[in-house]
Amino acid sequence: MEIEKAKVVIKQLRDEIRDHDYNYYVLDNPKISDREYDNLMQKLINLEEEFPQLATDDSPTKRVGGEPLPEFSTVEHRVPLLSLANAFGTEDLLDWHRRVTQAVGEDTEYVVEPKIDGLSIALTYENGRFIRGATRGDGNIGEDITANLKTIANLPLVLREDIPMLQVRGEAYMPKGGFENLNKIRAEKGEPLFANPRNAAAGSLRQLDPKIAASRQLLIYVYVVLYQEGMDFTSHSKSLDQLSRLGLPVNRERLVTEDIGNVDEYCQQWVEKRHTLPYEVDGMVIKVNSLEQQYKLGATAKSPRWSVAYKFPADQGESKIEDIFVRVGRTGVLTPTAVLQPVKLAGTTVSRATLHNIDFIEDKDIHIGDWVLVQKAGDIIPEVVKVLKDKRTGEEVAFEMPKTCPDCGSNVVRIEGEAAARCTGMVCPAQLREGITHFVSRNAMDIEGLGPAVVSQLIEEKLIENVADLYYLNFDQLVQLERMGEKSAQNLLNAIEKSKQAGLDRLLFGLGIRHVGAGAAKILARHFNSIDALGKATVEELEAVSEVGPKMAESIVRFFADSKNIEVLKSLQNAGVRLEEDEKQEQLEGKLVGKVLVVTGTLPNLSRTEAQELIESAGGKVSSSVSKNTDYLVAGAKAGSKLTKAQELGITIINEEELLKITE
Ligand code: IVH
Repeated sequence: MEIEKAKVVIKQLRDEIRDHDYNYYVLDNPKISDREYDNLMQKLINLEEEFPQLATDDSPTKRVGGEPLPEFSTVEHRVPLLSLANAFGTEDLLDWHRRVTQAVGEDTEYVVEPKIDGLSIALTYENGRFIRGATRGDGNIGEDITANLKTIANLPLVLREDIPMLQVRGEAYMPKGGFENLNKIRAEKGEPLFANPRNAAAGSLRQLDPKIAASRQLLIYVYVVLYQEGMDFTSHSKSLDQLSRLGLPVNRERLVTEDIGNVDEYCQQWVEKRHTLPYEVDGMVIKVNSLEQQYKLGATAKSPRWSVAYKFPADQGESKIEDIFVRVGRTGVLTPTAVLQPVKLAGTTVSRATLHNIDFIEDKDIHIGDWVLVQKAGDIIPEVVKVLKDKRTGEEVAFEMPKTCPDCGSNVVRIEGEAAARCTGMVCPAQLREGITHFVSRNAMDIEGLGPAVVSQLIEEKLIENVADLYYLNFDQLVQLERMGEKSAQNLLNAIEKSKQAGLDRLLFGLGIRHVGAGAAKILARHFNSIDALGKATVEELEAVSEVGPKMAESIVRFFADSKNIEVLKSLQNAGVRLEEDEKQEQLEGKLVGKVLVVTGTLPNLSRTEAQELIESAGGKVSSSVSKNTDYLVAGAKAGSKLTKAQELGITIINEEELLKITE
């Protein structure tokens, strides 16, 4: 492609991707599938790689995190980032309302918004471009965390209008799901856990290496304009509408009312309602809507008089640990769980709390029989905050990790350097149950009707011993299970049948290969196109794929080296489960189906991307490194080490002309 043409295509792709971001993150109304989106992004990445001179800092591809910084520089805020005064309950709220109306009259309108529990940030846009992001710091001086903030998927790098100058304040937060996953992984690795999503968000953004923030699934909401040139609004709610039109994510949960009674009622409703949100909310923020009235009210040294934070009651309570039992997960990890005397927290009765691993128990000095402070932050799994040592009677008993697996009796080992204890059993029913439950889960093969109870029965009845066995179940076998009617048996069979077409990425995730999450599974599926090709890849080839680190690469190779796993894959294949990517099926006619090619050196006519497209459109796969699996090396001028390696391995070497011929 000519550079002039590339310029146009790159711009089109960037605009298109930004529109999709806006539809997805601001309007909550995606117009294309994740896959189509990923394809657009990949095209842009390829073009920017081919034309590095056209890459810009605000391209949507620049979210993966750049080079680590030596240290954060400081930023002086143009407008100080004040904090808010608190109101604990109706009385405080009415006091605040009285003060407001005394100063500006009865005619006041309020805006009520959820108070997101994250890290307060200030974002600066100049001529519509994101140029700087900073932490609140002491309110006057914060830290420049631009590189980290750029990795946040819903933070627009370019606004949808060319506003000369805009500074907004918002909150960077970690959704509850991301927080739970992060802590689960950290617990398995024996790393210290984050106490709550706020700490996790702050911990991620205050790292000098932006790749860490990029890997942490953070999001933002903006909630106030700090400074602007070129916008026009007279109220806070109108300013939020405008921010939203500019492409900035603004929380849509909001009440505008003149009645303080409504404000109070709305806040009360949210005490319960907040648990339905995917992110942590620790109160409500009430703001006077009119900017003129805000101005009149002004601020104290610490906080504006026109706003107040209505804090929710804490979700902590006291309970007694009656017992500690151990659950075995799909990777064999033993997780101790506390059985609690039931306690009401965050609107639900809690009777279990995860204790993560033995280090957690020892650090907190938890004994069976201890009284503990328990907390439930939103929908997050309840956690033991601390032991109430004053309440000890001397009858508490220390907990010990079992030496053998409670499900299969195999030895339990603790690998050095890891906090996790693992069951070493090859055929542990608990691991099998968890592994199959994971395989059928929504993000994997998505087989509806196969809950943990059915899975357990299938295992007990010896109807399944691995995931492939699911595809050989028949109606008679299913219908004899407890609480399984004819209709549900048939529905289940249909769901199993349908899942055969789930796709390679879901299958890969479902197989539960250690360190391969849903995101990595997608990347691997797209890169290798088939389970066969993935199974043949070496650690080196795997590591050449972006996002695949040494741990994942080794784990994949280990998985395919295990003959039991290969048997399961064969059995899946025989059952008709799709083990290849879609595109591959479409390409079956191509002349290079199943062939792996490497391109090196400068070709006389074709660019790297054009050569790659040509090969792929003929059904071939392009790899970046030469190995014994390479079928052809396409060599151009100045070919270096790859050519030598291919010669050594006796791989067929072709030139551009020959490539054109075989792809004709
Ligand atoms: S308004 C001058 N609105 O709560 C007005 N704050 O002290 C400043 N927060 O650190 C804040 N959600 O980071 C506002 N919808 C919201 C908010 C919000 C969360 C945080 C903010 C601040 C703290 C209050």
